[in-house]
Amino acid sequence: MSIRAPFCASGPLHSNLPSRNNNVVGADNFAIESHKICYSINTEKGKLIPILNDCSLKIPSGQFWMLLGPNGCGKSTLLKILAGLLSPTDGFVHVRKPRSFVFQNPDHQVVMPTVEADVAFGLGGFSLTNEETKFRVAKALTAVGMYDYLQRPVQTLSGGQKQRVAIAGALVQQCKVLLLDELTTFLDQTDQIGVIKAVKKTLSSCEDVSALWVTHRLEEMEYADGAVYMEDGRVVMHGKPSTIMDFIEARKASYTKTINS
Ligand SMILES: Nc1ncnc2c1ncn2[C@@H]1O[C@H](COP(=O)(O)OP(=O)(O)O)[C@@H](O)[C@H]1O
Ligand SMILES: [Mg+2]
Repeated sequence: MSIRAPFCASGPLHSNLPSRNNNVVGADNFAIESHKICYSINTEKGKLIPILNDCSLKIPSGQFWMLLGPNGCGKSTLLKILAGLLSPTDGFVHVRKPRSFVFQNPDHQVVMPTVEADVAFGLGGFSLTNEETKFRVAKALTAVGMYDYLQRPVQTLSGGQKQRVAIAGALVQQCKVLLLDELTTFLDQTDQIGVIKAVKKTLSSCEDVSALWVTHRLEEMEYADGAVYMEDGRVVMHGKPSTIMDFIEARKASYTKTINS
């Protein structure tokens, strides 16, 4: 059974609200756009727990954005809604398709024994010739700097290299939006920077591919074109990385002052 394929959703994304005016939401120059997304969970006792409240954001096409916020603020939930893995309770979402969700743990998404076979696995439903498959796999692996590892057994790769293979698995399906959830959590510093640089290079070498990267590592912001900051199920700010960085630093300073007083 395909592990990766279901997460490269290409169909329309549904919400329980009618589409808004296309001049406002879903315009072509944005790869990702959400308007007032809400998401709640129904408990077994029938209680409704709100997870996301009125989350709005816009991510321009071809850019690398980061999504930050404290643990439990709703980053993964929002990313899953953008990926089409969860449906919002309310609000509107537009994400260019195909889109692909890449998981935190590389061992959860690499499925075949060699790098080449693993990336080609994502093309199972595409009815391509062998030559076309080889060409697409080579192009995707080149984009993430892993072409030299074509014949390598996946299990001999580092965590960061496996993440790059997983990203190639999304690119090979000509994915337009990459949704990346805390990819660097389990990586050492070399792998961490290697994966970020691979995403940056991918965006500059593949036409019109955009990425939203969830992270808790502030130092990764230097690679971002823009950033979104969440707290308690809400998008608090989104815009220039330097502005978001200043905001987070100020928040941290105020928190430290409070607990020390
Ligand atoms: N299926 C679920 N059932 C109950 N609570 C959930 C579920 N999924 C997420 N949550 C809660 O929603 C909040 C946001 O979770 P999540 O999106 O994973 O946050 P983050 O990725 O920012 O750490 C957390 O408090 C989490 O416990
Ligand atoms: Mg998370």
